[in-house]
Amino acid sequence: MSNTTRNAALGLLLGLSTAIVASADDGSHLWLRKSAPDLAIVKTEAPMSDTLRIALAELSRFHDHNVEVSTNKHRTDLGTDGFEILMNGDKLKIVASRDVGILYGVYHLLRHQACGTQFTDNFQVKEVPYYKFRMLNHWDNLDGTVERGYAGSSIWKWDELPGKVSPRYTEYARANASIGINATVLNNVNASPKMLETANLKKVKAIADVLRPYGIRVFLSVNFASPMVIGKLKDADPLKPEVAAWWKDKAKEIYDLVPDFGGFLVKANSEGQPGPCDYGRTHADGANVLADALKPYGGVVIWRAFVYGKKTEERVQQALLEFQPLEGKFRDNVVIQAKNGPLDFQPCEPFHPLFGKLKQIPLGMEFQITQEYLGQSNHLAYLATLWKEVLDSDTYQNGPGSTVAKKIHESGMIAGVANIGDDVNWCRHPFAQANWYAFGRLAWNPDLKADDIAKEWLAQTFTSNPAFIEPVCDMMMSSVPAIRQYMMPLGLAHIFASTLGNHYGPGPWLYQAGNESFLQYASLVSTNDEKAPGRRIFDATKDALGADRTKTTGTGTVLQYNAPLCDQYNDLKTCPERYWLWFHRIGWKDKLPTGDTFWEHLCGEFESGAKIAATYPGIWESVKTYVDNERYELVLGRLKLQAREAVWWKDACILFYQSVNGLPLPKGITPPIYDLAKLKRINFPSNVHFCPKPEDVNRALDGALKK
Ligand code: GCU
Repeated sequence: MSNTTRNAALGLLLGLSTAIVASADDGSHLWLRKSAPDLAIVKTEAPMSDTLRIALAELSRFHDHNVEVSTNKHRTDLGTDGFEILMNGDKLKIVASRDVGILYGVYHLLRHQACGTQFTDNFQVKEVPYYKFRMLNHWDNLDGTVERGYAGSSIWKWDELPGKVSPRYTEYARANASIGINATVLNNVNASPKMLETANLKKVKAIADVLRPYGIRVFLSVNFASPMVIGKLKDADPLKPEVAAWWKDKAKEIYDLVPDFGGFLVKANSEGQPGPCDYGRTHADGANVLADALKPYGGVVIWRAFVYGKKTEERVQQALLEFQPLEGKFRDNVVIQAKNGPLDFQPCEPFHPLFGKLKQIPLGMEFQITQEYLGQSNHLAYLATLWKEVLDSDTYQNGPGSTVAKKIHESGMIAGVANIGDDVNWCRHPFAQANWYAFGRLAWNPDLKADDIAKEWLAQTFTSNPAFIEPVCDMMMSSVPAIRQYMMPLGLAHIFASTLGNHYGPGPWLYQAGNESFLQYASLVSTNDEKAPGRRIFDATKDALGADRTKTTGTGTVLQYNAPLCDQYNDLKTCPERYWLWFHRIGWKDKLPTGDTFWEHLCGEFESGAKIAATYPGIWESVKTYVDNERYELVLGRLKLQAREAVWWKDACILFYQSVNGLPLPKGITPPIYDLAKLKRINFPSNVHFCPKPEDVNRALDGALKK
């Protein structure tokens, strides 16, 4: 049994420390910046593995105490990934049942050190992750583009692989392991069938080999038509034996290369993707043929519930209508993955009805870390508050206390659509790194508080000085509520300027009659009802705004929620304010209990959001002394843009709604500085992997100012 001593750890440290110290503050080291002037003495009796070697090398950055590590497979109380840390005399001791638990324990210690924890005699922690699969979903394509990616090209260099293995893969693995992420889907859910070609699988193997010692398993998104496209079969009907045989052979090929391969993620029969419904089969038929192929190797199928396309229902109802009848029909290695809300990662949606209604089908969570609908890489939007709101939501499925967080514990699966690209700082906006970090921390422990996570991230990424942390943490915590106010207050949704394109900037006018294709895309109208305008549920009209989803006069969507939520949402008096327009159509002149009209209240929301965003540059300027120049300037420029865009949103929405309802600007609302006709002409390229550059947005807005 090998002994690891100070020297062994040192030798490994050298490689790591050059990477840490080499560049100043370009953000490339994420939250793992601190290098160690002193070296801890590390001891272990455990047999050496690649994982343990990494753990010990990392420990050398820990300089508060000497540390002993031991793996004890009988510690079943720690699960497969947990650890315990105790003070033992003058040493800290880390125990885990597997080496990867030691690695997580080491990163935990480093986090404590960076946050200034004093390791007193009674220091003791025991951590077991709440979810089994803590997963990133990359929407990366084989051509190097990233769908909804706003931080450069894909980090996966398919052209160079497998011959050249970028050092960035190791840095990626390390960053993920440091926050407990243990699974990654390498490619886009809009998957190219080519992903499963042998040449590409060899590249996947090269990546998997780098990620494995960090405890990360690789998954792939697959295109349901792969047996046809690359297998040259006549079709991909899941009930045909030759199709099943093709998937079995493919699974064997994959597992020969990647023995710990995680499984397949599938987007089927949604947004034009092929799927079992093309052959009159069900989602269960489709998922099961893949599940059977993966079963012998312990792989899982993650089948997405983001389905729509049929023209008979309101889109937000469709997933439940399609999946509820399939309860009991899926194999036990299938998980259905639902987005947090029923529409599409909007700034504010109620939780997905599936979480409260499905009983037997294991459900996984899909959050979006990339900020497709929250300012992309130009706005600071700290998403942990949004995710917490969803995880803490009570579905009442088994009485009070049936939170979404508990529901997804049954499948053990929580995924986030990655915001990572090949930009030097990984995420372009320095504060977007906080979302990657927070996702990992919540996937480990959904009970953590959003502000505590923000503080740890700030301490590790910038400085642990409270004079910096307090105001910046407050700014982060206020960001999603402010964005909701200035973009889509009171439960408005999907009023973006472009539909299938870039989703950047305001476009409430797209809801006007005559734009049926948009309404169908956003599925805010049942297409059966095109000739019955009363059912156009999200239109701004002369009289009202909002979607009538009540059971009384509307689409009845509230019925997809358990009691008491159903009645609560159904009645405007009890419906949470943030969902008013999601569930109700409200007259502009309706009086609210406050005495204001709805119109006055709505305008007040836009105004308040814009005012909060306007404070951000000043908050950042007030902490200038704590931040290196490079990141300071990068953030400042973006916060100024965010403040400006908040006014863009406010003015665009208020001016447009005024053009429909003819009402005057309420008292106390800052008069618009932009011209509506000019705002309507702003048009950035329609592109699913594009976020306009700050200078281009500024130029467009300069051109839209009132004369
Ligand atoms: C959104 C997004 C698409 C993505 C889709 C999905 O609609 O705009 O780019 O493909 O979600 O989650 O499948």
